[in-house]
Amino acid sequence: MHLINFKELSGQQIMEIVNKGIEIKRNPEKYQDSLKGKTLAMIFQKTSTRTRVSFEVAMTQLGGHAIYMDWRATNFTLADIYDETQYLSRNVDCILARLLKNSDLQIMAKASRVPVINGCDEKYHPTQAIADLITMKEKKGTLKNVKLVYVGIHNNVCNSLIEACTKVGVEITTVTPIFNEPSRDDELLEEARKTGLYKTTLDLKEAVRNADFVYTDTWVDMEFFLDPKYAKEKERRIKMMMPYQINKENLAGSNAWIMHDMPIHRGYEISPEMIEDPRSIIYEQSENRLYSAKAILLKLLDKY
Ligand code: CP
Repeated sequence: MHLINFKELSGQQIMEIVNKGIEIKRNPEKYQDSLKGKTLAMIFQKTSTRTRVSFEVAMTQLGGHAIYMDWRATNFTLADIYDETQYLSRNVDCILARLLKNSDLQIMAKASRVPVINGCDEKYHPTQAIADLITMKEKKGTLKNVKLVYVGIHNNVCNSLIEACTKVGVEITTVTPIFNEPSRDDELLEEARKTGLYKTTLDLKEAVRNADFVYTDTWVDMEFFLDPKYAKEKERRIKMMMPYQINKENLAGSNAWIMHDMPIHRGYEISPEMIEDPRSIIYEQSENRLYSAKAILLKLLDKY
């Protein structure tokens, strides 16, 4: 079993992972030898702080071992992804990959003898969504009929949130004036619409009024953020998105918890004061990456 997105998982299976994450957070010592002798290969084409650290720490705390591989320092740069993965999966027990293209991740999953975890590609970010569900369940005690509003660019994080939320009973409304085309997955959105739990609007104030959680993310994908060739598009997005910034004025009258998957771009998608606001649970949310990583690893390695 791989974790590329949530297409192969039922709401019940997603909840099993979420509940396991919460249980592991409460009783870490119970799991300290669960992955003894197991090795995770973590290969990154893009930068990362949380995904890398949380999975590496998760392996250590579960009694296993993780190998960090910068794509540029490996022979994946010279050879076929299929062949290199055939080898890798014969020496490790699980692979976490943050690749630029979902199509390359699909090749990797096809070639691998062991589970492959999507560490964020242009379409999905499933490991982040599990941490988000853990965070929401901790705050509300349940996920049924909880209301989440996602404000920003429709992107990979947004796709995985929509997919995960609608499968477990969370009502999700997106306020996304820009659609990041590389992330487009119409089938995912169609499935989400069928549940009646997914809506989209441009009326930010109305959307956040009764929200339990308001969530935002970067307006520019990480691989383009510092790219001079992308500067014009970055400027266009900033101009168009500024009215949708998470700030005091836009959240006036809302008691929603504030979420962000990080890294944060202060003063862009969120004002600095809202990061420190008592309603902000951003750092707790990021801490939960560790427990979600542990729960995902145990699930994929058949440990519950
Ligand atoms: N949220 C997230 O995936 O963080 P990193 O990009 O730092 O891994």
